[in-house]
Amino acid sequence: MKCFDDVFRHYSPDIAPFMHQMFADYQASQPYKGFTIVHNVPLTQTTLMKTACLKAAGADLVVTNPSFMNEDMDAIQVLANEQVPYVPLELVKGEFDFLLDCGAELVESCYANKGIVELTRTGAMRYQQHKEFHVPIVSVDDTRLKCLETCLGTGEGVYRAITQVADVDLTNKNVLIFGFGKVGIGIAYYFSKITPNIIVVEADSGRLKLIEQRGYQSVDARQAQLVERAADKSDLIVTATGLKDIISNNYHPLAFKGKLLANAGAEDEFGFAFEAKDVLADKKPVNFILKEPTLMEFLDPIFYAHNIAIDDALNNTQTGFRALDKKTDEAIVSQWAAHHGWTVEKLNTIF
Ligand SMILES: NC(=O)c1ccc[n+]([C@@H]2O[C@H](COP(=O)([O-])OP(=O)(O)OC[C@H]3O[C@@H](n4cnc5c(N)ncnc54)[C@H](O)[C@@H]3O)[C@@H](O)[C@H]2O)c1
Repeated sequence: MKCFDDVFRHYSPDIAPFMHQMFADYQASQPYKGFTIVHNVPLTQTTLMKTACLKAAGADLVVTNPSFMNEDMDAIQVLANEQVPYVPLELVKGEFDFLLDCGAELVESCYANKGIVELTRTGAMRYQQHKEFHVPIVSVDDTRLKCLETCLGTGEGVYRAITQVADVDLTNKNVLIFGFGKVGIGIAYYFSKITPNIIVVEADSGRLKLIEQRGYQSVDARQAQLVERAADKSDLIVTATGLKDIISNNYHPLAFKGKLLANAGAEDEFGFAFEAKDVLADKKPVNFILKEPTLMEFLDPIFYAHNIAIDDALNNTQTGFRALDKKTDEAIVSQWAAHHGWTVEKLNTIF
C-alpha cells in the first residue's frame, strides 16, 4: 500500500463503515482545521485509516508510535507519501490542541491545550491519577463499544489462530479457559460455536456465577485439584487472566502436558514450568501469529470513537477524567450491530 486511498480500498465500506463515513464527513466539513493533534496509537496499516480521517478533518497532525510495539515501516512510508510527519515517541514534545494517546505515554512530554483522548485501560488509570488536569480527558476504554474489539475481536482472533494452527479438528472437543474477563468471554463465545464442552476457571465469585448463567461449566481457580482434573480431561487449554505464571504458580504442570496449550494474555500465563515449544506461538498471545490478529471490522468502531472523542471534549469542556459520553457509545454499538448483522440484545447476552 502506497497511500491512504490504497488502505481505504483494501478495507471496503462493508468492512470498515465507520472509517469510510468519518473520512467523507471530515473531508466535507473539515471540523479540526487548524487544530494541532499528536497521534500515539500503534502504527499499523489499519490505523492509517484513522490518521487519514484526522488529516481530512484539516488537523495539523504529528504521528508517533507507542513504546511497547514496533512501528510498521510500510505505514511510515505511506505517511511520508501523504506528507504526514512521523516522529519517534522519544522525540515528541511540546504543546498540541489534542493528545490522542495509548497507554498515557504522552502525559509527561506533551501539553494539551484543549483535550486528551485515551485508548487503553492502563493509560486511563494513569490519566485518572491526574485529578487536577486542566482539560477534559476522555477515555474510550470505559465503554461498551470497547468490548466489540476486546471481547469479540480478540475472541475471534484467538479462535481463528488456534483452529488454523491446531492439527486436530476441535469440534466437540473439551476446551478449558482460564479467566472470564473481556477476552475470556469472547474466546468462550467463539469456541461455543463448535463445541458444547467448555469449562471456565475463574477466581472471582461474581464471574463464577456468570459463567454458569452463560451455559458453561465453572471451576473455582482456588480449588487446585478440581482445576487439575479439568485440565487433565481437556483437549485445548487457553489462558486469558492477564496474570504472569498463573498456571506454573498454582497447578501441577503434569495435568497440562500433552494438551494443546494457547495463551491469549499479554503476559506468559503458563509460566516457568512450560517451555516455549509446549505452548502455541511460543507462549505469545496466540492471535499475533496471524497477519490480522484482530479483524478490521472489530477495530473500526474503536478507531472511530478515539477520533470522535475530540468532539466530546469540545462539546463538554469540563476538565478532568471521564468516559466517552454514553449516548455516543450506545449509538456506535447499535450502528455496528445493525451493519454487521447482530442485534444489541444478542451482544448484551455475550458481554
Ligand atoms: N491477544 C490479544 O489480542 C489481547 C487483546 C486484549 C487484551 N489482551 C490481554 O488478555 C489478558 C486478559 O485481558 P482482559 O481484558 O480479559 O482482562 P480482565 O481483567 O477483564 O479479565 C481477567 C479475568 O481473569 C480472572 N482471573 C484472575 N485471576 C484468575 C485466576 N487465578 N484464574 C482464573 N481467572 C482469573 C479475573 O477475575 C478476570 O475476570 C490481558 O493480559 C490483556 O492484556 C490480549
